Amino acid sequence: MLFLAPMAGYNSLAFRIMCRKHGADVVSTEMMSANAVHFGQQRDILTSEEEGPLSIQLFGNLPERLVEAVRWAEQYNPVLIDLNAGCPVPKVAGNGMGADLMKDPTLLARIVEAMTDAATVPVTVKIRAGWDRENAVETAEACERAGASMIAVHGRLATHGYSGKADWQVIKRVADSVGVPVIGNGDVHSSDDAERMIGETGCDHVMIGRAALEDPRVFSGMESTAKEDKIRLIEEYAATSERTGEISLNDLKCHALFLAKGFPGSPVLRGRISAARSIEEIKNAAKSI
Ligand SMILES: Cc1cc2nc3c(=O)[nH]c(=O)nc-3n(C[C@H](O)[C@H](O)[C@H](O)COP(=O)(O)O)c2cc1C
Repeated sequence: MLFLAPMAGYNSLAFRIMCRKHGADVVSTEMMSANAVHFGQQRDILTSEEEGPLSIQLFGNLPERLVEAVRWAEQYNPVLIDLNAGCPVPKVAGNGMGADLMKDPTLLARIVEAMTDAATVPVTVKIRAGWDRENAVETAEACERAGASMIAVHGRLATHGYSGKADWQVIKRVADSVGVPVIGNGDVHSSDDAERMIGETGCDHVMIGRAALEDPRVFSGMESTAKEDKIRLIEEYAATSERTGEISLNDLKCHALFLAKGFPGSPVLRGRISAARSIEEIKNAAKSI
Protein backbone atom coordinates (compact mmCIF):
# COMPACT_ATOMS: atom_id res chain seq x y z
CA MET A 1 0.00 0.00 0.00
CA LEU A 2 1.06 3.58 -0.58
CA PHE A 3 0.82 6.05 2.31
CA LEU A 4 0.82 9.84 2.15
CA ALA A 5 3.47 11.05 4.64
CA PRO A 6 2.51 13.47 7.40
CA MET A 7 3.80 16.91 6.43
CA ALA A 8 3.24 19.84 8.77
CA GLY A 9 1.68 22.77 6.96
CA TYR A 10 0.74 20.77 3.85
CA ASN A 11 -1.69 17.97 4.69
CA SER A 12 -4.90 19.93 4.34
CA LEU A 13 -8.08 17.99 3.69
CA ALA A 14 -7.95 19.25 0.09
CA PHE A 15 -4.46 17.82 -0.38
CA ARG A 16 -5.44 14.52 1.22
CA ILE A 17 -8.49 14.28 -1.08
CA MET A 18 -6.25 14.90 -4.10
CA CYS A 19 -3.74 12.26 -3.00
CA ARG A 20 -6.54 9.78 -2.46
CA LYS A 21 -8.06 10.56 -5.85
CA HIS A 22 -4.68 9.99 -7.48
CA GLY A 23 -4.06 6.64 -5.83
CA ALA A 24 -2.93 6.95 -2.19
CA ASP A 25 -4.22 4.04 -0.14
CA VAL A 26 -3.94 5.79 3.25
CA VAL A 27 -3.62 9.52 3.83
CA SER A 28 -2.31 11.21 6.96
CA THR A 29 -2.80 14.39 8.87
CA GLU A 30 0.20 16.45 9.86
CA MET A 31 1.42 15.89 13.44
CA MET A 32 -1.02 17.02 16.13
CA SER A 33 0.21 18.04 19.55
CA ALA A 34 -0.91 15.97 22.55
CA ASN A 35 -0.09 18.94 24.77
CA ALA A 36 -2.32 21.21 22.68
CA VAL A 37 -5.12 18.63 23.02
CA HIS A 38 -4.60 18.63 26.79
CA PHE A 39 -4.82 22.41 27.01
CA GLY A 40 -7.83 22.57 24.66
CA GLN A 41 -5.80 24.38 22.05
CA GLN A 42 -5.75 21.78 19.29
CA ARG A 43 -7.88 22.87 16.35
CA ASP A 44 -10.43 20.48 14.86
CA ILE A 45 -9.44 18.18 12.03
CA LEU A 46 -11.51 18.69 8.91
CA THR A 47 -12.34 15.26 7.47
CA SER A 48 -14.38 13.82 4.63
CA GLU A 49 -15.29 10.38 3.30
CA GLU A 50 -13.65 11.47 0.04
CA GLU A 51 -10.17 11.21 1.54
CA GLY A 52 -10.52 7.48 2.25
CA PRO A 53 -8.69 5.78 5.12
CA LEU A 54 -7.12 8.36 7.43
CA SER A 55 -4.15 8.10 9.78
CA ILE A 56 -3.90 10.77 12.47
CA GLN A 57 -0.40 11.53 13.69
CA LEU A 58 0.19 12.64 17.27
CA PHE A 59 3.30 13.95 18.99
CA GLY A 60 4.20 14.36 22.63
CA ASN A 61 6.24 12.68 25.35
CA LEU A 62 3.90 12.19 28.30
CA PRO A 63 2.03 8.87 28.19
CA GLU A 64 -1.09 10.25 29.89
CA ARG A 65 -1.32 13.17 27.46
CA LEU A 66 -0.97 10.83 24.50
CA VAL A 67 -3.78 8.70 25.90
CA GLU A 68 -5.91 11.85 26.05
CA ALA A 69 -4.88 12.68 22.49
CA VAL A 70 -5.77 9.17 21.28
CA ARG A 71 -9.30 9.59 22.70
CA TRP A 72 -9.56 13.01 21.07
CA ALA A 73 -8.28 11.70 17.71
CA GLU A 74 -10.74 8.78 17.64
CA GLN A 75 -13.71 11.14 17.28
CA TYR A 76 -12.51 11.66 13.67
CA ASN A 77 -12.72 7.93 12.87
CA PRO A 78 -9.15 7.30 11.76
CA VAL A 79 -8.12 3.81 10.65
CA LEU A 80 -4.73 4.32 12.31
CA ILE A 81 -3.21 6.52 14.99
CA ASP A 82 0.47 7.23 14.45
CA LEU A 83 3.04 8.41 16.98
CA ASN A 84 5.71 10.78 15.72
CA ALA A 85 9.13 9.61 16.87
CA GLY A 86 11.00 11.10 13.92
CA CYS A 87 10.59 14.88 13.90
CA PRO A 88 13.98 16.58 14.37
CA VAL A 89 12.89 20.24 14.49
CA PRO A 90 14.05 22.02 17.66
CA LYS A 91 10.54 23.09 18.69
CA VAL A 92 9.58 19.40 18.89
CA ALA A 93 12.76 17.38 19.51
CA GLY A 94 14.19 20.15 21.72
CA ASN A 95 11.28 19.53 24.08
CA GLY A 96 11.82 15.79 24.33
CA MET A 97 9.26 14.87 21.65
CA GLY A 98 9.45 13.56 18.07
CA ALA A 99 12.85 12.09 17.19
CA ASP A 100 14.16 12.85 20.70
CA LEU A 101 12.17 9.78 21.82
CA MET A 102 14.63 7.62 19.86
CA LYS A 103 17.25 8.47 22.50
CA ASP A 104 15.12 6.63 25.05
CA PRO A 105 13.42 3.54 23.54
CA THR A 106 12.17 2.57 27.02
CA LEU A 107 10.17 5.80 27.40
CA LEU A 108 9.02 5.49 23.79
CA ALA A 109 7.78 1.95 24.49
CA ARG A 110 5.90 3.15 27.60
CA ILE A 111 4.12 5.77 25.48
CA VAL A 112 3.29 3.24 22.75
CA GLU A 113 1.94 0.81 25.33
CA ALA A 114 -0.29 3.47 26.88
CA MET A 115 -1.55 4.49 23.44
CA THR A 116 -2.27 0.94 22.27
CA ASP A 117 -4.12 0.21 25.53
CA ALA A 118 -6.30 3.28 25.03
CA ALA A 119 -6.88 3.05 21.28
CA THR A 120 -9.60 1.08 19.54
CA VAL A 121 -7.67 1.27 16.25
CA PRO A 122 -4.11 0.10 15.51
CA VAL A 123 -1.29 2.37 16.67
CA THR A 124 1.73 2.86 14.41
CA VAL A 125 5.05 4.59 15.09
CA LYS A 126 7.11 6.66 12.67
CA ILE A 127 10.81 6.58 13.44
CA ARG A 128 14.07 7.66 11.84
CA ALA A 129 17.34 5.71 11.53
CA GLY A 130 18.25 7.07 14.95
CA TRP A 131 19.15 10.34 16.66
CA ASP A 132 22.89 10.73 15.96
CA ARG A 133 23.68 7.02 15.65
CA GLU A 134 21.60 4.26 14.20
CA ASN A 135 19.31 2.45 16.65
CA ALA A 136 16.26 1.93 14.44
CA VAL A 137 16.18 -1.85 14.93
CA GLU A 138 16.32 -1.61 18.74
CA THR A 139 13.68 1.14 18.71
CA ALA A 140 11.37 -0.69 16.31
CA GLU A 141 11.64 -3.89 18.35
CA ALA A 142 10.76 -1.98 21.53
CA CYS A 143 7.74 -0.43 19.79
CA GLU A 144 6.62 -3.82 18.50
CA ARG A 145 6.84 -5.35 22.00
CA ALA A 146 4.81 -2.40 23.30
CA GLY A 147 2.00 -3.16 20.88
CA ALA A 148 2.70 -1.09 17.74
CA SER A 149 0.93 -2.55 14.71
CA MET A 150 3.25 -1.08 12.10
CA ILE A 151 6.50 0.86 11.99
CA ALA A 152 7.31 3.54 9.44
CA VAL A 153 11.03 4.13 8.97
CA HIS A 154 12.52 7.28 7.44
CA GLY A 155 16.08 6.24 6.60
CA ARG A 156 17.91 9.30 7.92
CA LEU A 157 19.38 10.18 11.30
CA ALA A 158 17.54 13.01 13.05
CA THR A 159 20.77 15.03 13.17
CA HIS A 160 20.90 14.84 9.35
CA GLY A 161 17.52 16.58 8.95
CA TYR A 162 16.75 16.21 5.24
CA SER A 163 20.33 16.34 3.98
CA GLY A 164 22.07 13.59 2.04
CA LYS A 165 20.21 10.56 0.79
CA ALA A 166 17.92 8.35 2.87
CA ASP A 167 19.63 5.05 3.68
CA TRP A 168 17.21 2.36 2.59
CA GLN A 169 19.38 -0.34 4.17
CA VAL A 170 18.15 0.86 7.58
CA ILE A 171 14.62 0.11 6.41
CA LYS A 172 15.79 -3.37 5.36
CA ARG A 173 17.40 -4.00 8.75
CA VAL A 174 14.14 -3.08 10.50
CA ALA A 175 12.03 -5.13 8.07
CA ASP A 176 14.31 -8.12 8.68
CA SER A 177 14.00 -7.74 12.47
CA VAL A 178 10.37 -7.07 13.36
CA GLY A 179 7.28 -9.18 12.79
CA VAL A 180 4.88 -6.29 12.19
CA PRO A 181 4.61 -4.66 8.75
CA VAL A 182 7.16 -1.96 7.94
CA ILE A 183 6.48 1.18 5.92
CA GLY A 184 9.58 2.42 4.08
CA ASN A 185 10.05 6.17 3.73
CA GLY A 186 12.59 8.60 2.35
CA ASP A 187 13.49 9.80 -1.13
CA VAL A 188 10.82 7.97 -3.07
CA HIS A 189 10.61 10.34 -6.02
CA SER A 190 8.52 8.24 -8.40
CA SER A 191 6.29 5.19 -8.57
CA ASP A 192 9.31 3.25 -9.90
CA ASP A 193 11.25 4.26 -6.77
CA ALA A 194 8.41 2.89 -4.63
CA GLU A 195 8.70 -0.51 -6.30
CA ARG A 196 12.48 -0.40 -6.05
CA MET A 197 12.23 0.35 -2.31
CA ILE A 198 10.02 -2.69 -1.74
CA GLY A 199 12.43 -4.84 -3.77
CA GLU A 200 15.57 -3.57 -2.04
CA THR A 201 14.32 -3.48 1.54
CA GLY A 202 11.51 -6.03 1.84
CA CYS A 203 9.29 -3.35 3.40
CA ASP A 204 5.56 -4.02 3.17
CA HIS A 205 4.37 -0.52 2.33
CA VAL A 206 5.81 2.76 1.09
CA MET A 207 5.24 6.29 2.39
CA ILE A 208 5.67 9.26 0.05
CA GLY A 209 6.05 12.88 1.13
CA ARG A 210 7.71 15.55 -0.97
CA ALA A 211 7.19 13.78 -4.32
CA ALA A 212 3.44 13.88 -3.64
CA LEU A 213 3.64 17.63 -3.05
CA GLU A 214 5.14 18.00 -6.53
CA ASP A 215 2.73 15.55 -8.14
CA PRO A 216 0.04 13.60 -6.25
CA ARG A 217 -0.23 11.32 -9.31
CA VAL A 218 2.96 9.65 -8.04
CA PHE A 219 0.58 7.32 -6.17
CA SER A 220 -0.98 6.03 -9.39
CA GLY A 221 2.18 5.84 -11.49
CA MET A 222 0.76 8.58 -13.72
CA GLU A 223 3.18 11.32 -12.66
CA SER A 224 4.54 13.59 -15.37
CA THR A 225 6.32 16.89 -15.67
CA ALA A 226 4.24 18.13 -18.61
CA LYS A 227 3.39 21.79 -18.10
CA GLU A 228 -0.31 21.33 -18.94
CA ASP A 229 -0.62 18.54 -16.39
CA LYS A 230 1.08 20.53 -13.65
CA ILE A 231 -1.14 23.55 -14.30
CA ARG A 232 -4.19 21.31 -14.15
CA LEU A 233 -3.01 20.10 -10.72
CA ILE A 234 -2.72 23.68 -9.45
CA GLU A 235 -6.25 24.34 -10.69
CA GLU A 236 -7.41 21.10 -9.08
CA TYR A 237 -5.87 22.07 -5.73
CA ALA A 238 -7.45 25.55 -5.90
CA ALA A 239 -10.87 24.08 -6.73
CA THR A 240 -10.64 21.37 -4.08
CA SER A 241 -9.52 23.69 -1.30
CA GLU A 242 -12.26 26.13 -2.32
CA ARG A 243 -14.75 23.30 -1.96
CA THR A 244 -13.41 22.22 1.46
CA GLY A 245 -13.43 25.84 2.59
CA GLU A 246 -9.72 25.80 3.34
CA ILE A 247 -8.55 28.03 0.52
CA SER A 248 -6.23 30.85 1.53
CA LEU A 249 -3.56 32.82 -0.28
CA ASN A 250 -0.79 31.32 1.79
CA ASP A 251 -1.94 27.70 1.54
CA LEU A 252 -2.55 27.89 -2.20
CA LYS A 253 0.82 29.57 -2.69
CA CYS A 254 2.63 26.83 -0.74
CA HIS A 255 1.00 24.03 -2.72
CA ALA A 256 1.21 25.79 -6.10
CA LEU A 257 4.95 26.41 -5.60
CA PHE A 258 5.53 22.66 -5.19
CA LEU A 259 3.17 21.68 -8.02
CA ALA A 260 4.78 24.19 -10.41
CA LYS A 261 8.07 22.33 -10.48
CA GLY A 262 9.75 20.27 -13.15
CA PHE A 263 8.96 21.81 -16.55
CA PRO A 264 10.94 24.35 -18.60
CA GLY A 265 8.73 27.37 -17.76
CA SER A 266 8.43 26.55 -14.08
CA PRO A 267 10.92 29.15 -12.73
CA VAL A 268 8.86 31.90 -14.38
CA LEU A 269 5.60 30.50 -13.08
CA ARG A 270 7.03 29.99 -9.60
CA GLY A 271 8.23 33.60 -9.60
CA ARG A 272 4.72 34.79 -10.45
CA ILE A 273 3.15 32.56 -7.81
CA SER A 274 5.59 33.85 -5.17
CA ALA A 275 4.77 37.44 -6.05
CA ALA A 276 0.99 36.90 -6.17
CA ARG A 277 -1.00 38.94 -3.70
CA SER A 278 -4.36 37.26 -4.21
CA ILE A 279 -5.80 33.85 -4.97
CA GLU A 280 -6.97 35.17 -8.34
CA GLU A 281 -3.42 36.21 -9.23
CA ILE A 282 -2.22 32.65 -8.62
CA LYS A 283 -4.99 31.20 -10.76
CA ASN A 284 -4.25 33.71 -13.53
CA ALA A 285 -0.51 33.03 -13.35
CA ALA A 286 -1.20 29.33 -13.93
CA LYS A 287 -3.48 30.11 -16.89
CA SER A 288 -1.09 32.59 -18.51
CA ILE A 289 2.10 30.56 -18.57
C1 LIG B 1 7.30 20.23 4.99
C2 LIG B 1 7.46 18.92 5.71
C3 LIG B 1 6.75 18.70 6.87
C4 LIG B 1 6.88 17.48 7.56
N1 LIG B 1 6.11 17.26 8.68
C5 LIG B 1 6.14 16.03 9.26
C6 LIG B 1 5.25 15.70 10.32
O1 LIG B 1 4.38 16.49 10.73
N2 LIG B 1 5.35 14.46 10.87
C7 LIG B 1 6.27 13.53 10.44
O2 LIG B 1 6.33 12.42 10.96
N3 LIG B 1 7.11 13.82 9.42
C8 LIG B 1 7.05 15.02 8.82
N4 LIG B 1 7.85 15.27 7.74
C9 LIG B 1 8.72 14.19 7.22
C10 LIG B 1 7.99 13.39 6.14
O3 LIG B 1 6.86 12.73 6.68
C11 LIG B 1 8.93 12.34 5.51
O4 LIG B 1 9.37 11.46 6.52
C12 LIG B 1 10.17 12.97 4.86
O5 LIG B 1 9.81 14.09 4.06
C13 LIG B 1 10.88 11.94 3.96
O6 LIG B 1 10.02 11.43 2.96
P1 LIG B 1 10.06 12.00 1.44
O7 LIG B 1 11.48 11.85 0.96
O8 LIG B 1 9.10 11.11 0.69
O9 LIG B 1 9.65 13.43 1.47
C14 LIG B 1 7.75 16.48 7.06
C15 LIG B 1 8.46 16.72 5.89
C16 LIG B 1 8.31 17.91 5.20
C17 LIG B 1 9.08 18.11 3.90
